[in-house]
Amino acid sequence: MASSHRLPLFLLPPLLLLLFLFPPNYHNPFPLITTQNIPFFHPSKQPPPPPPQLPSQFPPAAVEPQPLPQPPPSANKRIEEDLARARAAIREAIVRRNYTSEKVESFIPRGRVYRNAYAFHQSHIEMVKRFKVWTYKEGEQPLVHDGPMKNIYSIEGHFIDEMDSGKSPFSAQNPDEAHVFFLPVSIAYIIEYIYTPITTYARDRLIRIFKDYVRVVADRYPYWNRTRGADHFMASCHDWAPDITQTDPDLFKYLIRVLCNANTSEGFNPVRDASLPEINLPANFHLDLSRSGQPPENRSILAFFAGGAHGFIRKMLFEHWKDKDDEIQVHEYLHKGQNYGEFISRSRFCLCPSGYEVASPRLVEAIQGGCVPVIISDYYSLPFDDVLDWSKFSLRIPSKRIPEIKKILKGVSPAKYLKLHQGVMKVQRHFEVHRPAKPFDVFHMVLHSVWLRRLNIRPSH
Ligand SMILES: *[C@@H]1O[C@H](CO)[C@@H](O)[C@H](O)[C@H]1NC(C)=O
Ligand SMILES: *[C@@H]1O[C@H](CO)[C@@H](O)[C@H](O)[C@H]1NC(C)=O
Ligand SMILES: *[C@@H]1O[C@H](CO)[C@@H](O)[C@H](O)[C@H]1NC(C)=O
Ligand SMILES: *[C@@H]1O[C@H](CO)[C@@H](O)[C@H](O)[C@H]1NC(C)=O
Repeated sequence: MASSHRLPLFLLPPLLLLLFLFPPNYHNPFPLITTQNIPFFHPSKQPPPPPPQLPSQFPPAAVEPQPLPQPPPSANKRIEEDLARARAAIREAIVRRNYTSEKVESFIPRGRVYRNAYAFHQSHIEMVKRFKVWTYKEGEQPLVHDGPMKNIYSIEGHFIDEMDSGKSPFSAQNPDEAHVFFLPVSIAYIIEYIYTPITTYARDRLIRIFKDYVRVVADRYPYWNRTRGADHFMASCHDWAPDITQTDPDLFKYLIRVLCNANTSEGFNPVRDASLPEINLPANFHLDLSRSGQPPENRSILAFFAGGAHGFIRKMLFEHWKDKDDEIQVHEYLHKGQNYGEFISRSRFCLCPSGYEVASPRLVEAIQGGCVPVIISDYYSLPFDDVLDWSKFSLRIPSKRIPEIKKILKGVSPAKYLKLHQGVMKVQRHFEVHRPAKPFDVFHMVLHSVWLRRLNIRPSH
C-alpha cells in the first residue's frame, strides 16, 4: 500500500503518462499500434533475461512503428468519441486517485498488486459501461462457435461460448455499435477435428481454414478492411495458435491475438497481442482445489511441483531436483492416494515451469491454492501484465538459475513471503472462472486486455 509520505513521487508518473497519452493535439481516431514511441506503452519493465544460447528478441521485432490505415471518419465517429470519453475518465481517475461510477461498485481494486489501481478500476468501469463486441455469425460448429470446455485448452471453448451465446452484456446488437470484432474460430477444435489422429504437424490446413474464415468476413462486411483487422481479435489456448498468422504476416499485421502460448521469442507481441491464462478445467469447470489452502504458518513444504517431463525446462528441473530434496519437492508423478490440491495448499511456493510451451496451468492452480507461484520460463509474457504487478505475488526464476532454486527461495525473508502470499490472495478473483462471467473474473480480465489494446492505454504506472 502506498504510504502518504510518498505521495508527491507517486503523482509524477501518472502525469507523465497523461502527457504522453494525451498530447494537446491528441486526435488519433484509431490509436492502436501507432504509439510505440510512448515510453510507458511497453512490455513489463523487467523482461526475463533470455538464456544465453538464444538470440535476444525482446522486445519482439513486431513492435516497430507501423503506419495504420485510418478508418473513414464517418464510419465510426460515435465509437471513437465513446472511447475518447473512456480515456478521459481513466485519466481523471489517475489524477484524482479515485473512481466515478453511476453504479454502486461491488469491488474496489486497491493495493500494490495493481500497477495503477485507480486507472484499472476506472478502466473496468468504463469497459462494463461501454464495451461492445461483435461476434461474427459466419461458420459452423464444431470448428467455429464451439471449442473445448474441459481440460487444458478449456479457456478457449469457454471464452468462445461466453462471447457467442448472445447472453453476454458485452455482445453488440449489431456490428455498427461494436468497438471490436471477435473471430469465434476454435484453433483447438480445428486440431481435434481435422488433424486427429495426428499424421502430420504441418500447419497448412490450420492456416488455410483460419484465413478462409477471415476472407469470408472481410468479403461480406466492410469492418476488416476498414482497419486491416486492427479492431479484430481471436482467442486460443492451443500451442499451435500463434502459427495461424505465420504465412501471411501482412494480412494479420494488426489482428489482436489472445493466446495462451504467449512466447515473445516466437512473435508474440505484448503491445498488440494479449496473454490468455491456461486453466485446466474439469468437466464441471470448477477447479478441484481447496480454495485458498492453508494459512502461511501451516505451509510446511518449501516448494512443490508434480508433472510430466515435457520440454527442456522441466528436464533441467528434474535433473537437479527430482526426488532429491525434502524441501524442494519435485515429483514426476504423485503416488496413488497423494492429493495434488493438498500439496498445493501445504506448500509455500509452487513451481510453474514451462512445459512444451511457455504457459502452464499451474500458475492459476497455485494462485487459487494460495501458493506463491515461482515462474520458471523464458520469454513468457504473463497474463494481465498491463494491470497486475506480478512481482508483488510471484517470483520469476530464469531457467538457467534452476540449480539455485533452493538458495533463492530460502533467501526470501518471512516478511517478504507474507506480502507475496497476501498478494496471491488478492489476485485470486482475477483468475476465477464463472459462467456467465462476473466482474473482475478471468473472462472480464481477458476482455479488459482486449479493451486496453483498443483504447491503447496501458495503465501501468
Ligand atoms: C471515491 O469516490 C467514491 C464514489 O464517487 C466516493 O464514495 C468515495 O468517498 C471517494 N473516496 C475518496 C477517498 O475520495
Ligand atoms: C476487402 O479486401 C479484400 C482484399 O483486397 C477484397 O477481396 C474484399 O472484397 C474487400 N472487402 C470488401 C467488403 O470490400
Ligand atoms: C493449521 O494446522 C493446525 C495443526 O495441524 C491445524 O490444527 C489447523 O486447523 C490448521 N489451520 C487451518 C486453517 O487449516
Ligand atoms: C519460446 O520460443 C523460443 C524460440 O522459438 C523457443 O526456443 C523456446 O523453446 C520457446 N519456449 C518454450 C517453453 O517452448
